[in-house]
Amino acid sequence: MEIRPTTDEDLDVFVDTVHAAFGRFPETPVEGGGLWWSALETDRCLLALTAEGRPVGTAATHSFELTLPGETLVPAPGVTAVGVLPSHRRRGVLRAMMRHQLTDLRGRGEFLSVLLASQATIYGRFGYGPATYTAQLTVPRHRADLALPRSRGAADTPVARPDQGSVEVLRRAECDTILEDVYDRYRRAQPGALSRPHRWWALRAGRPPISPAPRYVAVHRGTDGVPDGYASYSIDDSGTLTVDETITGDDAVFTALARFVLGHDLVSQVVFKHVPPQHPLRWQLADYRAGEVSGDMDWLWVRLLDVPRALTARGWFTDGELVLDVEDPFLGEQARYLLTVQDGKADCVPTDREPDLSLDVSDLGSVYLGGTAPSTLVRAGHIRAHHPDAAALADALFRADRPPHCLHWF
Ligand SMILES: CC(C)(COP(=O)(O)OP(=O)(O)OC[C@H]1O[C@@H](n2cnc3c(N)ncnc32)[C@H](O)[C@@H]1OP(=O)(O)O)[C@@H](O)C(=O)NCCC(=O)NCCS
Repeated sequence: MEIRPTTDEDLDVFVDTVHAAFGRFPETPVEGGGLWWSALETDRCLLALTAEGRPVGTAATHSFELTLPGETLVPAPGVTAVGVLPSHRRRGVLRAMMRHQLTDLRGRGEFLSVLLASQATIYGRFGYGPATYTAQLTVPRHRADLALPRSRGAADTPVARPDQGSVEVLRRAECDTILEDVYDRYRRAQPGALSRPHRWWALRAGRPPISPAPRYVAVHRGTDGVPDGYASYSIDDSGTLTVDETITGDDAVFTALARFVLGHDLVSQVVFKHVPPQHPLRWQLADYRAGEVSGDMDWLWVRLLDVPRALTARGWFTDGELVLDVEDPFLGEQARYLLTVQDGKADCVPTDREPDLSLDVSDLGSVYLGGTAPSTLVRAGHIRAHHPDAAALADALFRADRPPHCLHWF
């Protein structure tokens, strides 16, 4: 088996092979129209070939930036286009490609990588752990009243800041760079969010609203007229209004956009796709049970390739010390680190002190962005806590400034 990068000459072979692995055809657009593979970077695509030179496997990475807790932006290769021909499965082709790819990423100086998993059973063995979660919230129109709570003692003062801005409806094609600009500002402050490189928008490579699928876009502007949020949506024949994504870093703007779509005439229900499972919108409904959460699942998986660099890169919000014994079975590594957090910064050095926690590198990936509490993984039997206070200490240390969330599809 040979594994090598593709060249400009055989990028079409790569594209054909990955589509054959998924049982699709290269010209089949993803939902809504875009040809997702047009954003692939040739030198980051790997082809696995048999001894006879037959291409049987593919894997690639996109060059993204990931926002860590503390609004720190770091390079994050996004693993994609992973496939093995149905005729060559369960013979170790994926395993060989994963090993090649992780070694290559380390060689490029990367300290983490991320992916979206087609099945949750595949990537744990390669050191990836689920780190952000997503769901969809469905609200029937006739139960969609919002009841924003009022603060105690001041009956006329809503707790949530009232919105002063305005909403305008545009067709997707009229939006120019509004979506790209709003998304970029949003993702820089949102832990777990990925950049959407300009070429994705320029090539319309991805799912709506990046792809050229027909969509209406509710654009929210602040009092200064600058767009600070959008909701991209479509309405089907049954009267379901589906919001592809609602992008804003401001809760009041989210509420204004939600109020807009929930108030749309000739609509029976509104489906908000790609919201965090614990989104505050549900608490703003007058009828809590009107908001039905479904499709609650993992989204972004994280794999740490250099634990000290990864831990010192993110922001921290509680001072403390923790000794982590980290095992990386896939790369055949094991190391013990002393993590010391002071004034928002961490130091992480090898140590021979007794560990507080013993964990697999995939579990460290899961807790890294602050979206999975270490205590949950202790209770699940994944992480071993060596004394009664260890899990609570780890929970306090690893929490993020705001819950991580990712909605970029790749
Ligand atoms: C998923 C896929 C890439 C696996 O390729 P493969 O070459 O058959 O995998 P390997 O033979 O290298 O298997 C490596 C390990 O993963 C396991 N594995 C492979 N595919 C699996 C699956 N779909 N579910 C659970 N385990 C899987 C194997 O059992 C093996 O386990 P082991 O470590 O205990 O031996 C291939 O089945 C495929 O192309 N599927 C369709 C496309 C797809 O889903 N791609 C993933 C996109 S995120």
